[in-house]
Amino acid sequence: MKRFFFFIISYIKYFFSSKDEHSIHSPFVFNLYREIIIKKKHYYAFEDLNKIRHNLLSDQTVLKINDLGAGSKVNQSKERLVSDIVKNSGKSTKISELLFRLTNHFHPSILIDLGTSVGLTTLYLSKASQQSIVYSFEGCHDTVEYAKKLFKTAQADNVLTIEGNIDNTLPAQIEKITQIDLAYFDANHTYEATKRYFEWCIKKIHNDTLFIFDDIHWSPGMEKAWKEIIEDNRTVVTIDLFEVGLVFFRREQPKQHFILKL
Ligand SMILES: C[S@@+](CC[C@H](N)C(=O)[O-])C[C@H]1O[C@@H](n2cnc3c(N)ncnc32)[C@H](O)[C@@H]1O
Repeated sequence: MKRFFFFIISYIKYFFSSKDEHSIHSPFVFNLYREIIIKKKHYYAFEDLNKIRHNLLSDQTVLKINDLGAGSKVNQSKERLVSDIVKNSGKSTKISELLFRLTNHFHPSILIDLGTSVGLTTLYLSKASQQSIVYSFEGCHDTVEYAKKLFKTAQADNVLTIEGNIDNTLPAQIEKITQIDLAYFDANHTYEATKRYFEWCIKKIHNDTLFIFDDIHWSPGMEKAWKEIIEDNRTVVTIDLFEVGLVFFRREQPKQHFILKL
């Protein structure tokens, strides 16, 4: 209940402070906002992805859940139906398609996806840029096994799943890769974990890397982490879209924060 009120108050604050394109003076942010963030361009891949979402929403497979994170907002029982996971812990079509458009626009070579779950959002990332390698991290064994089957059926051959606690698997994987072009953070929604993931991933950024943080207003801890990321002198352009926050490191830009309507 407390979290629900926190969420509502955060949304009201966002609603009254968010702006549209008329407030944006940066050409980079203006174009990104108009052409990618709010332009609901249709891609053929959306038809297949929507069918997969539809099937998952009625999938009665029971998975044994070992949640190493802050947990689901709604159902924290140890066994869950795939349909329930997709409905309560998965991303909406709107956010999934936004992730697709951003990935398709930036064409990352190396993409880090924290929190595979049953794999639906990972599929949007994979299909948006089939030349990318998507390193997808998940700690729950049953869930990751389910996701692997889904990737096989959907021919998402560019996804490499990494099973285990991200606190162990992420630093180890980061040592092995040369750079991160895009990272999507949707695993353990706590202040401490978000800050740890940020610090590990920032070691392999370059000027055009994009970080996407999910659920930045989910709890006071997540808001605190997001605020510190905005204020961090290594981040340059940050964009609050309420459900997700975007972080750019483009040194040619002035440091600036935007709160934009989605
Ligand atoms: C919100 S769900 C991810 C949803 C997914 N991105 C989607 O949109 O369908 C978070 C996932 O992160 C996983 N997770 C949380 N903390 C973790 C950790 N420390 N190590 C590995 N996986 C973790 C959970 O098991 C859960 O499946």
